[in-house]
Amino acid sequence: MATYSKESLIERARQLLPKAYAPYSHFPVGAVLLMDDGQIIEGVNVENVSFGATNCAERTAIFTAVTQGYGPKSIQAIAVAGDTEDFLPPCCICRQVLVEFCRPDVPVYLTRRDGQIYETTVSQIVPLAFESLKM
Ligand code: THU
Repeated sequence: MATYSKESLIERARQLLPKAYAPYSHFPVGAVLLMDDGQIIEGVNVENVSFGATNCAERTAIFTAVTQGYGPKSIQAIAVAGDTEDFLPPCCICRQVLVEFCRPDVPVYLTRRDGQIYETTVSQIVPLAFESLKM
């Protein structure tokens, strides 16, 4: 199975930026999922004139994984890249989707324009996650 460093996952996410559809915000984002079976799934943000129908890069990647047949909790790592001065963290809608599809200890790699990488986890970026309808 291919092995991927966090640097290589971040680089893959960065290479997606030209594919983002972001004519309104001019804020391209790329996200890469490393799946448990070693496959890579990519996503970019896809904006809409309504603004509200916009889909973030992270959700595009996760929804693509589901469409390809992956079940929940089959993600090994996530990398997110933008062209930002500071680290670009997933929005809170995407964080909730990450909770649904990732184990809590899944690493999340963030980056910024100077290439530095910030490593965190799903549980660190979503403390006290809502994840059950048990009553
Ligand atoms: N965006 C993402 O794709 N991922 C994030 O983590 C933050 C925000 C997108 C949504 C929108 O197209 C643009 O960035 C500006 O918010």
